Amino acid sequence: MTGVLQGRRVLLIIGGGIAAYKSLDLIRRLRDAGGQVRCVMTAGAQEFVTPLAAAALAGEKTYTDLFDRADEAAIGHIRLARDADCVVVAPATANLMGRMAQGLADDLATTVLLATRLPILIAPAMNPAMWAHPATRRNLATLEADGVHVVGPDSGPMAEPETGAGRMAEPMAIVAAVQGLFAQAGASGDAPLAGRHVLVTSGPTHEPIDPVRYIANRSSGRQGHAIATAAARAGARVTLVSGPVSIPAPPGVDLVPVETAREMKAAVDAALPADIAIFAAAVADWRTQQDAARKLKKDGSGPPALALVENPDILASVSAMAQGRPPLVVGFAAETHDVVALAKAKRARKGCDLIVANDVSAGSGVAGGVMGGARNAVHLIDAGDAVTSWPEMDKDAVAERLVAECIARLGAAGGQTGNGGGA
Ligand code: C5P
Repeated sequence: MTGVLQGRRVLLIIGGGIAAYKSLDLIRRLRDAGGQVRCVMTAGAQEFVTPLAAAALAGEKTYTDLFDRADEAAIGHIRLARDADCVVVAPATANLMGRMAQGLADDLATTVLLATRLPILIAPAMNPAMWAHPATRRNLATLEADGVHVVGPDSGPMAEPETGAGRMAEPMAIVAAVQGLFAQAGASGDAPLAGRHVLVTSGPTHEPIDPVRYIANRSSGRQGHAIATAAARAGARVTLVSGPVSIPAPPGVDLVPVETAREMKAAVDAALPADIAIFAAAVADWRTQQDAARKLKKDGSGPPALALVENPDILASVSAMAQGRPPLVVGFAAETHDVVALAKAKRARKGCDLIVANDVSAGSGVAGGVMGGARNAVHLIDAGDAVTSWPEMDKDAVAERLVAECIARLGAAGGQTGNGGGA
């Protein structure tokens, strides 16, 4: 069984039943299988096992309180709901199942369960009479109709002198069911990037001149955001590092908003490792040497001379990583002339695996212009300088096709890297 969950991140929600003691063993088994485990405990669970015990076994803090200010500031319930590859509820008590079925969000566990879009697996555990009760039957049917996966319960000796179904599935059976979740996602074709981490940069950067002025460009973030959306739809965990844009964050991605190129680089470095990194941001090549602390004034001595210095090249630095380089690094080349020739040279210079070249000139022929517009006409250039030109299409369609291209190339590059388990 070792390694079957290599790099997979499991958010384990421990409910308040006596079977919670078995969840401690479950943590160990999930980790033995290569998984990373983060725990949330309900108030009831803490009557049976301590957050400290779960944290010691998981090697990570246990979260218990929706209104804990430090936790909300540090990670927050929405990130808890997203920064994983699946959610396991074990034990899922009758009460917790009822609250899930109702869509209640009255504690941290149920709030995370309502906010998550990840696959959910529940391991019910309760007294046989409660399991057989029509209310529990209804709740189970509702949860199954909502797409929640179920493992167990087993029949056998219970805490009470009662027999029948209601005993929580054994930890190894739960581990196998978690593995099944991923196999199912991968085999269905709907989630070819399940368990993968895709990093996308998007938008412009703003380089301050003084507290009120900045250097920017016309990038809208539409293409980068569309790529993040397409990757999330393909089942990936997506980190979207975006400069200032006026479009909304796509659902289901982890947005890291930044302003400057240096902030973007720091956010990219912090988000690695990734299986695929796509650099669609229009990063300002230069910033001012000095960011004036006070507003520059017209003082009669003529316009100020703005000395510029070069920004770090994020794409080039990630492409050149000696260790932990994403297996697939994709850059963009926005050009106004000699598009393909300049893009080929840029791909070689930057060291990325693939470059997406587009003509951003007013004469590109793309309706509405590429920069800030809704459509794009791109050429794909690979490491062998092979060029594939796609017809003009919506940026969403470019994104879908690019993600499909990346999936094919990642497959060819040799299977799972385990980077889906990044921090
Ligand atoms: O050099 P140029 O800006 O034309 O290169 C474009 C590609 O490089 C894009 O993929 C862009 O996101 C990336 N880039 C970067 N960091 C920079 C400049 C560009 O990641 N400082």
